[in-house]
Amino acid sequence: MMNNLITLRPATINDLTLLQHWDEQPHILASDPNDDWAWETELNRNPKWREQLIAESDGRPIGFVQIIDPAKEESNYWGDVPTGLRAIDIWIGDVDDLGKGYGTEIMRQAIIRCFEDSSVKAILIDPLASNKRAHQFYERLGFKFSHQQYFGEDDCFVYKLNREDWVTDHS
Ligand SMILES: CC(C)(COP(=O)(O)OP(=O)(O)OC[C@H]1O[C@@H](n2cnc3c(N)ncnc32)[C@H](O)[C@@H]1OP(=O)(O)O)[C@@H](O)C(=O)NCCC(=O)NCCS
Repeated sequence: MMNNLITLRPATINDLTLLQHWDEQPHILASDPNDDWAWETELNRNPKWREQLIAESDGRPIGFVQIIDPAKEESNYWGDVPTGLRAIDIWIGDVDDLGKGYGTEIMRQAIIRCFEDSSVKAILIDPLASNKRAHQFYERLGFKFSHQQYFGEDDCFVYKLNREDWVTDHS
């Protein structure tokens, strides 16, 4: 059982070195081999359609989570999707922090954040088709497999959590 206090706070340019360091970790590269997050630029921007957050455990940075509105995201990564959705990216930075329950708690808080907006009907996730442990992780959180889709060179499984299937205690 995890007893640490997990909090989410906005990422800033002061997190640049940390995020670049995490980008080089093999478990993160394996889950996201083709994306350049352009942190130097993006950490200095706060577009309305995006939140970039650092997860902390008892004040120690342990991971990153991004929440976007896929219909408004500027690069049109998700293609032609309706409004009323959010999409989440998440990773735990240090390999020693994997499998300790942190990701589950970070996702619980991120899901609450998304559904706090009453116009949000569902949340999307796009793990690589090969990332079986991530699939299990999202399924345990209530996400359902939607379809397989290429994003650039990445062969992904799209998972979806509908608001009506979101049955956790919301404490
Ligand atoms: C996916 C991830 C965010 C889950 O966070 P976590 O803190 O490790 O997960 P929890 O401890 O809350 O839950 C453990 C479950 O996460 C899943 N998981 C996925 N990748 C894992 C990994 N590399 N190590 C351990 N657990 C992992 C498993 O389902 C695991 O359950 P299991 O031990 O019964 O197989 C985290 O493992 C991670 O950052 N992985 C690498 C990056 C990644 O794959 N991100 C998702 C891309 S869509």
